[in-house]
Amino acid sequence: MACTIAITGKGGTGKTTIAGLIVTGLVAAGRTPVLAVDADPNSCLDEVLGVSARATVGSVREEARERSSSGALSGMARTEWLGLRIAESLVEAEGFDLIAMGRPEGPGCYCYANNVLRDVLARLAVNYPFTVIDNEAGLENLSRRIVRSVDLLVLTGDPSRRGLETVRRLYDLAVEMKISYKKLAIIINRLRNDAVPPDFNILRAAVPADYFLALPENADVAALAERGEGMAALPRANPVAAMMDGFITDVLA
Ligand SMILES: Nc1ncnc2c1ncn2[C@@H]1O[C@H](COP(=O)(O)OP(=O)(O)OP(=O)(O)O)[C@@H](O)[C@H]1O
Ligand SMILES: [Mg+2]
Repeated sequence: MACTIAITGKGGTGKTTIAGLIVTGLVAAGRTPVLAVDADPNSCLDEVLGVSARATVGSVREEARERSSSGALSGMARTEWLGLRIAESLVEAEGFDLIAMGRPEGPGCYCYANNVLRDVLARLAVNYPFTVIDNEAGLENLSRRIVRSVDLLVLTGDPSRRGLETVRRLYDLAVEMKISYKKLAIIINRLRNDAVPPDFNILRAAVPADYFLALPENADVAALAERGEGMAALPRANPVAAMMDGFITDVLA
């Protein structure tokens, strides 16, 4: 059955890096093809995956809207054109494909934009055993329900007291907003000297997550990002890659 993994959390805490590591981990585990979805307009999941995304679903939708209003496209032709262009914007790579959602905004009905994103994802995702969605910070994307169901929700945070508190608040908000998911993982990223912060156990007691993970700060992860290289270049023996692979094994079990 198709499994959807959505990553969100506090800004700058490694959501895109972790999404990239989940994709490369699933590919390494042979769970292919994986559909990688960049649902953060300001993000660069493509770079983290070592590919380059040009068009986005949002930009294609916007072009269709402009062509419709100038009378160049209508009815079935418009639907077919949209389908074709979106298929073209899918980046195909070894073991995974990537689609960038872009911005849903722009003139016209906001609900319509959301519906296009939702339909594109639903239609695409059936072809893949795993869909991994990198979201922007916070719960905005998930509250717009662009994915119908999330099997695994991953919330990321940093080890500072405020960072851990933000994760707890995000969890409370997700419950309040009735964001549905089957399993929850909390990943605290960039631990200094491998030291688990004292408040980590308070967070564990407060949030009923299925998985808790604390990833160390790692110079090789940072260096790859500085060079703009993908996570596939990270050796699987790297401590962060190894912990993420262990996490994926647990999730797949
Ligand atoms: N464990 C780690 N060790 C060292 N550097 C890391 C680690 N995890 C992430 N980074 C670095 O931290 C920076 C932020 O990571 P990333 O872009 O993945 O965060 P994000 O949560 O997606 O950010 P945004 O909210 O802007 O989308 C990047 O430069 C990344 O390489
Ligand atoms: Mg990001």
